[in-house]
Amino acid sequence: MSSNSKLPTLITGASGGIGADLARVFARHGHPVALVARNGERLQTLATELLETTGMDATVAVCDLEQPHAAPALMAELQAAHFSPAILVNNAGFGLNGPFAELELEQQLALIDLNIRALTQLTSLCMPQIVAARGRILNVASVASFFPGPGMAAYYASKAYVLSLGEALSWELQASGVTVSTLCPGPTNTGFMDRAGIPASGKAFYSMPSMPVAEAGYRGLMAGKRVIVPGMLNKLLAGLSGIVPHRISMHGIARMQYSRRRKHTEGNAKT
Ligand SMILES: NC(=O)c1ccc[n+]([C@@H]2O[C@H](COP(=O)([O-])OP(=O)(O)OC[C@H]3O[C@@H](n4cnc5c(N)ncnc54)[C@H](OP(=O)(O)O)[C@@H]3O)[C@@H](O)[C@H]2O)c1
Repeated sequence: MSSNSKLPTLITGASGGIGADLARVFARHGHPVALVARNGERLQTLATELLETTGMDATVAVCDLEQPHAAPALMAELQAAHFSPAILVNNAGFGLNGPFAELELEQQLALIDLNIRALTQLTSLCMPQIVAARGRILNVASVASFFPGPGMAAYYASKAYVLSLGEALSWELQASGVTVSTLCPGPTNTGFMDRAGIPASGKAFYSMPSMPVAEAGYRGLMAGKRVIVPGMLNKLLAGLSGIVPHRISMHGIARMQYSRRRKHTEGNAKT
């Protein structure tokens, strides 16, 4: 599939969901992988699975990327383990459902720390190795990147940053041989909704399993695509963002997010 299919790959948020499936896809294609998240037990279980199914020995690094010094400490740990990333997959991220004024500031800042600061920091810290290896960067954004999102405002805004940064970096790095791709999934069946405070009853009817999302991400990355939107309906939504005025799209998004919030609050009141 590519000239550099064996490049060592650092994957954040690999303990579950899209990140774990990305790790499975990269390992299946012969990439040595380093798996990063807070839950060491889940990372270790995945590392054992990858060894058994692909023969690839994964490096595990337990790390809370919301902490300001986590990224440099992670790089030092990887260096000590002789793991030099030539592909970086910035996948770790979370959302928060609820009106901005009702959500706790601390939680919203933690979201920015993970979705924006840690992603930016890791991209910068890994850049010398990636450029030297003519490697690749895959940032996981969202279909939310294309819209302002009332009812989940900081999350949508954080993903708009991820898409904008990735597109600009792909332009800046053209001459270096490094490709930068942004994966923009729509609703995907993972632990995301639970952490965001969205009840199961608020799940979108067109949610995708995480494996096809991860496979689309890998294919797009290796093809050097700038933006990857998996799924027909998600492609349609992303396309509409260029045509439909924000005042109209925000109406639909607010209806969906506020109704999820109501269901969450009602669910909590019952328990
Ligand atoms: N699922 C969706 O509907 C959807 C749609 C569009 C975009 N996305 C994006 O896809 C990416 C992956 O999310 P997912 O859907 O796979 O959700 P998920 O199942 O909740 O996985 C999130 C991953 O991030 C890790 N993580 C969370 N906080 C972390 C921290 N402080 N430090 C290090 N790792 C941390 C989690 O591991 P630990 O808890 O072990 O730390 C987990 O491995 C996110 O960027 C998300 O915004 C998801």
